Amino acid sequence: MSISLLVRTSFFIIFTSLFIGCSSNDKKGNNTAFLNGNLKKGDLKRNSMLRNPEFSIPVDPNLARSLTYSRIRTQAPFVAMTFDDGPHPVHTPRLLDILRARNIKATFFVVGTNTRRYPHIIRRMIAEGHEVGNHTVNHKYLSRISIEEARAEVLGCERAIVAACGVKPTILRPPGGHINNRVKVWLNREFGYSTIMWAVDPEDWKRPGSGVVAQRIVTETDAGEIILAHDIHGPTIAAMPRALDGLLSKGYRFVTVSQLISIERRQVVKNGRLNEDYALENS
Ligand code: NI
Repeated sequence: MSISLLVRTSFFIIFTSLFIGCSSNDKKGNNTAFLNGNLKKGDLKRNSMLRNPEFSIPVDPNLARSLTYSRIRTQAPFVAMTFDDGPHPVHTPRLLDILRARNIKATFFVVGTNTRRYPHIIRRMIAEGHEVGNHTVNHKYLSRISIEEARAEVLGCERAIVAACGVKPTILRPPGGHINNRVKVWLNREFGYSTIMWAVDPEDWKRPGSGVVAQRIVTETDAGEIILAHDIHGPTIAAMPRALDGLLSKGYRFVTVSQLISIERRQVVKNGRLNEDYALENS
């Protein structure tokens, strides 16, 4: 093969591949841009750089004014992501990786049986700045059982959490949301617990698909709200990158439930300085 033929052949191949590359990109639109390697550097950087800022918000359980919370009243863009029923040996560590990559601190309402089985996952939650709350030993509906049984369910889960990580929980989410005022008062008087409900429910346990779960979380969440999800379902974990990045890009910032309660009391401290107006800057 002569040199000129080689050069002409090379040019032909280059032009042809450029043409095919452009036309396939035009036809398929931006969705395939990443696969084709045509994503702009800026796009990739924006997506991968979404990161929750570091907040220093001291938590004092005595500050909780209400027996129960599903949201706090605030103009500030704080939200709390919560995950129930774990820890799960596979899904929860995957979720913790997703949260860590974004510096997001979440709250896990764990059941006692799983806590006893996987105490190392509870320790990892605490080590990475998450909050662990009580969800009873056997996922029992507290308003439907005797006071003795309820006491054993609450205390048993609390002891399993303390045995795993050494931190006593101060918040409880009633399994199935089954609670009444009498039980809320009892939980607060006997154990010092605040009862934590939710404002946003994507109904992920009905398995509507990851896209639907992510979309519901991103579109239905407002400032100050507590979001419910379950870390025992694979599709829920798969929904999280889109849900979390969607909220971050809308300007929402993630804190734990107890931090959210503290924010309501205007006790937001940044860099050791009391901040009454929530003028938080990204750090
Ligand atoms: Ni539950």
